Amino acid sequence: MHGFFISFEGIDGAGKSSHIEALAQALRAAGRNVVLTREPGGTALAEQVRQLLLHQAMDATTEALLAFAARRDHVRQVIAPALARGDVVISDRFTDATFAYQGSGRGMDWNTLLEIERLALAGIGEKADSVLKPDLTLWFDLPVQVAARRLAAARTPDRFEALDEGFFAAVSAGYAQRCAQDGARFARIDAAQGLDAVWQQVQQAVAARGLLQPDA
Ligand code: TYD
Repeated sequence: MHGFFISFEGIDGAGKSSHIEALAQALRAAGRNVVLTREPGGTALAEQVRQLLLHQAMDATTEALLAFAARRDHVRQVIAPALARGDVVISDRFTDATFAYQGSGRGMDWNTLLEIERLALAGIGEKADSVLKPDLTLWFDLPVQVAARRLAAARTPDRFEALDEGFFAAVSAGYAQRCAQDGARFARIDAAQGLDAVWQQVQQAVAARGLLQPDA
C-alpha cells in the first residue's frame, strides 16, 4: 500500500477541525493507518515554534523562516517516515498556508517563498530532487465575513485570528491562486454550506482519489 498525504487548508474560521477528525475515523474504518498532525506543529520542536508564531510579534520573513524550519522538522520526523510505511497522513495546514498567510496576507514575494521552500524541504523523503507536496489538498473556501462571524463566536483570537477582514481576503486570494496553479492537487470545498453538505464534499474528494468508497 502506498502512503498518501492529505492537507486541509483555509482561512481561520473555515471549519476544518471536525472534518479532519471525521476523515481520520472514516479512513481508519476503511483499514488505513492514519497519522493526524498539524502545522505549525507536529513535533516537539515545531510545537515550540507554533507558540512563537501565534503569540510573538515578528515580521513576515521571520514568520516564513520559522514556519519552514518547523515544517522541515515535521517532514523529517513524522510525515516522510509515515508515508514510507504506507500510512495516510492528514495535516491541518501545510506549505500552502505559508504562501497564503505570509505571502498573500503579509505581502512576501512568492518567488522568495519558493526559494525558502526548496532550501527547507528539498531532498527529504522519497524524491531526492523535489519538495514534498500533499497528494490532495482540501481547501475550505468561504466568504471572509462568514468566517469572521464563526470565529467571533468561538474563542479568544491568536495573532492571526485578530487580523482584519482585508487580511483574510488577501489570504483567501492566495489560496485561490495556489489552487489555480495546481488544480489536480486541490479540491475546493464550499465551506459556507452546512456540516453534512461539507462532509459530503470531503468524502467525495477523498473517494475520487480511491481512498474511500463513495458512500462510506
Ligand atoms: P490553525 O491551524 O487555524 O489552528 P487553530 O485552529 O488551533 O487556531 O492556526 C494556525 C495559524 O497559523 C493560522 O492562523 C494560520 C497560521 N499559519 C501561518 O501564518 N503560516 C503557516 O505556514 C501556517 C502553517 C499557519
